[in-house]
Amino acid sequence: MTATEPRTDWDDFNDPDRIMDIAMTDAANPNGVIHSVQDNADAIFTWNYEKGERAKLTKLYEKAKTSQWNGETDLDWSIEVDPAQVITADDPGIVDWFRNNPESPLYKIDDKGWEQVRTEGVNWRLSQFMHGEQGALLCTAKLVETVPWIDAKYYAATQVVDEARHVEVFAKYLDTKLDGEYPINPHLRLLLDDIINDSRWDVTYLGMQIMVEGLALAAFGFMHALTEEPLLKKLLRYVMSDEARHVAFGVLSLQEVYEGLNQAEILERQEFAFESALRMRDRFLQQEVWERMDIDVRAMVELQLAQPNEQKEFQRLLFSKIVPNCKKLGLLDAGDGWLRDRFTDIGVIQFENMVDTTEEFLDFDAVSQDREAAATN
Ligand SMILES: [Fe+2]
Ligand SMILES: [Fe+2]
Repeated sequence: MTATEPRTDWDDFNDPDRIMDIAMTDAANPNGVIHSVQDNADAIFTWNYEKGERAKLTKLYEKAKTSQWNGETDLDWSIEVDPAQVITADDPGIVDWFRNNPESPLYKIDDKGWEQVRTEGVNWRLSQFMHGEQGALLCTAKLVETVPWIDAKYYAATQVVDEARHVEVFAKYLDTKLDGEYPINPHLRLLLDDIINDSRWDVTYLGMQIMVEGLALAAFGFMHALTEEPLLKKLLRYVMSDEARHVAFGVLSLQEVYEGLNQAEILERQEFAFESALRMRDRFLQQEVWERMDIDVRAMVELQLAQPNEQKEFQRLLFSKIVPNCKKLGLLDAGDGWLRDRFTDIGVIQFENMVDTTEEFLDFDAVSQDREAAATN
């Protein structure tokens, strides 16, 4: 059914060897521009053209059509950006654990060195956002092909356009405003490969719409809060406006599917969700940044894994959308609460009662908000 090998042993989630054993470069294609992945899913036609059978998806589709924006003209690309000033505030947990900790390779790093950590961190994060957006572009094109409902095909088609715009604006920002783009992180690449590779259409939704995009929505929000750079701030606000709709699309579609699955099928989805969560957590270890800065990568990986959960504000916030959405889908507590236990292990279960994205996506609607503001001025 699927080319993905489900894992049975999950106890090594904090083992640095598991992470360090993953090659940083794509061995099959170390310097190539093209990366190809086998897609095992069937393309599905439907002859049922009855629009509105899934009314919530139709509403979302109509909303998407009126919430389009243009990355070339709605953002002010004339703004000059100082790459060292994109982020000027630090997460206090990061400073304590990395800069003021005698165990850290960054202990007592001088201000110039710390500024480089920040600047490389921004280049790295925005590069991974760009690569992740391309993953979303391919996954939603795949969803158009594989989902059997016409309302979902219509909506997914609008998302393809959204994702093209997201790749475009992150690529342009990296190219024209920053220096030092990074290749795709191997943990992220493996995750995207698994999602594309899988034959089950609901797994494209789960992997991309719920896990990758749920994390992206939280990560964009965190960066939006940390930057005062006006171009990036508006870019992120506009991208988030689309992403919230995308995550809502995932939850509204999968609710119906997951109500009809048996326990073994649900457990497979829980495992896929947790493996995705781990890969995304591992990617934020940003091994490539330490490598580029000539800092001991293994020591940094170990240090980050050893950081107490309560100090990991950023890492925990990344899961603030994923956990309530998994709960809404019934994935947390199905099968004796397998996924609840895993999310407890990695210290993110406390987000379970936060608002899920189907309830809040309209609050993110930057395009309508700006239009209304312009109309009243
Ligand atoms: Fe996107
Ligand atoms: Fe998206």
